[in-house]
Amino acid sequence: VGDKTIVREFGCDHGIAAQSILLGAVEKGLGGCMVGSVKRKKLADALDLSDRYRILLVIALGRPKEKVVIQKVGSAGDIRYWRDRRGTHHVPKRSLNDIILD
Ligand SMILES: Cc1cc2nc3c(=O)[nH]c(=O)nc-3n(C[C@H](O)[C@H](O)[C@H](O)COP(=O)(O)O)c2cc1C
Repeated sequence: VGDKTIVREFGCDHGIAAQSILLGAVEKGLGGCMVGSVKRKKLADALDLSDRYRILLVIALGRPKEKVVIQKVGSAGDIRYWRDRRGTHHVPKRSLNDIILD
């Protein structure tokens, strides 16, 4: 959450914080996921959150149930995740060369 009594705009602070939290979580054997699509009013009501705070991001944290394998994106360029018969979760990622602009 962002405290609206401190600043009005939060820029990318919550993204930086969320990434740090997730990297720390992975170091501790946990897994997580950032969620930006949130029913903010409903969540604020459920948490009895003061109006002074704006919900910026939600992070789901927990013990990973499945094995995740990072792999290179194939020649077709498909970045969709998929699971094999054993339930391993395959996550295609673009290479560093593909995402750096020169
Ligand atoms: C700022 C931010 C907000 C996100 N919000 C959502 C969301 O609302 N719903 C969702 O399904 N994934 C959301 N994602 C995507 C997931 O958090 C996650 O990054 C994505 O599934 C890719 O996972 P990976 O980075 O482990 O490959 C968001 C990611 C970021 C960085």
